[in-house]
Formats: sequence, C-alpha cells, structure tokens
Amino acid sequence: MGSLVCVGPGMIVGAHLSARCRSHIVNADIIFSSCHPLMEDWLKALNNNFHSLQPLYGENKNRRITYQQMITRMMSAVREGKRVVGVFYGHPGVFAQVPHQAIAQAREEGFTASMEPGISAEDCLYADLGIDPGAYGCQHMETTQFMIYQRVLDTCGYVILWQVALAGDISLSKRMSSSAERKVLVKLLMHFYPPDHSVTLYECPTLITDTFRAETIPLEKLTEAKLSQVTTLVIPPANRLIKNDVVSAELAAISKHTGDKI
Ligand SMILES: C[S@@+](CC[C@H](N)C(=O)[O-])C[C@H]1O[C@@H](n2cnc3c(N)ncnc32)[C@H](O)[C@@H]1O
Repeated sequence: MGSLVCVGPGMIVGAHLSARCRSHIVNADIIFSSCHPLMEDWLKALNNNFHSLQPLYGENKNRRITYQQMITRMMSAVREGKRVVGVFYGHPGVFAQVPHQAIAQAREEGFTASMEPGISAEDCLYADLGIDPGAYGCQHMETTQFMIYQRVLDTCGYVILWQVALAGDISLSKRMSSSAERKVLVKLLMHFYPPDHSVTLYECPTLITDTFRAETIPLEKLTEAKLSQVTTLVIPPANRLIKNDVVSAELAAISKHTGDKI
C-alpha cells in the first residue's frame, strides 16, 4: 500500500534536519523535492531515488499549474504502491500549499499520509532578529493576500509579510513583481504606518558558513529595495499596547473574590 509523508529539511543544508525527517528520507522508496539546489544535492546522498520538482516551475507559468503537477507526480507514485516522501524546504506546512493539498488528496483516496515539521524561515527569523512573538504578538501574512483582501493589521505587534518579492503579482506567474506593484504595497502599508517607520528585510542563509541578511530601511524606501525570492519583510510595532480597562477591572474583581475565599 502506498503512503505519503511530507517532511521539512529546515533552512540550512545539513544542519536543521530532525531525526524523524531523516529517517523518512532514508527509508523512502522514492523522494520528490522542492528545495534549494544545494539542499537537493545533499538530500540525494541520503536517498538516491531522488526527483527534483523544481524544473516544474517556469517563467510566465502560473504557479497553480506547477503546484498541481507536483501533486500529480507524488500521487502517481503513491498509487503505484510506493512509500513516497516529499521534501519541502523549511517546514513543509508553512506557506507551502503543495504538501497540505497532497496529504489531503492522499487521505481522500484512502492512503496513509502525514507531515513532519521542520525549521522554517519563521523560526530562524525569531532567533536571528531576537524577536519573541509572545512579547507583542505577531501576524504573518502572504503579501499579495494582504494586498487584495481587506485585512486588519495589528500595529501594536509585529507584522511579517512573506513572499514580498511577489507583492501584487495577481498573475501568479512572475518571479519578481514590478515597481508599480510594489508601490501599491507601500501605499497600502502607509495607511497603517508612518513613511519613516523602520522595516527589516530578512533572509536566512542556506549554508551554515553564510550569515543572515537583516537590512533595516524606512518603509517609504521599500519600492527601491533589493528583494529576492527568499526575502521576508518584518514590520516592528508602531504603537504601544493599549490597556483594556474593562476586562482588567473584571479580572481584578475575580482575583479579589478568589483571594477572599482563600
Ligand atoms: C513558499 S514560502 C516557503 C516557506 C518555507 N516553507 C518555510 O518553512 O520557511 C517562500 C517564502 O518564505 C520566506 N523564505 C524562504 N526562504 C527564506 C529565507 N532564506 N530567509 C527568509 N525568508 C525566507 C520568504 O518570505 C519567501 O518568499
């Protein structure tokens, strides 16, 4: 009986892979991967029945078509009765549609399917930039989704925008959005933040010998900033937390009452 497990090798080649993910990779009948080429070279040494899904991406090709083709490739092997492992860089379930959809489809067809977590860009970001998401709260959004839907930003907490290099690409087929599309993003963000609000462009390295990028610029300069496929935009809080006096009073009353009983 075929099966599917989607695993994440983390962000840094050879340094982030969990023992469970490694075991799935080593014991699989066949591996499909969507990772950085250096990560894929390293993965091939763990299991040589290795197939990269990266060539399915194409210039001006709608990413939805690519994603469907990736699912079809993995599902064909599952239906042939193979133990299939899909390796998706970082965490396979974080800002990654293919693993979620492939697992849902495999389960719908009666196959065993599961996901193993990996270290995502989000995890590296907290470590490298010294951010604790629990300090003020942290909102994560895909940049274009933030742009085309009416979303409420909590400016008292961190806001993290993913795929910022694809900001406003509604064709889903570009490798980089245009400066006109980026200007729309900056204009929208300036409804929430002042133009000189400091934002950070973050990129964690693929190799352990490299360092991360944390470039802080004023929001208004984002249109001209150098972005890549792997850039994540970090927007720190712009406003102080405002106390909710009504709820605080309610909790104080409960606390006093409980205290009376004791
Ligand atoms: C399709 S998502 C994949 C995320 C991945 N599954 C993970 O667990 O981090 C691609 C987006 O993740 C973020 N990302 C990917 N690689 C990154 C890196 N090296 N440093 C910072 N952010 C990265 C960027 O926002 C990028 O546009």
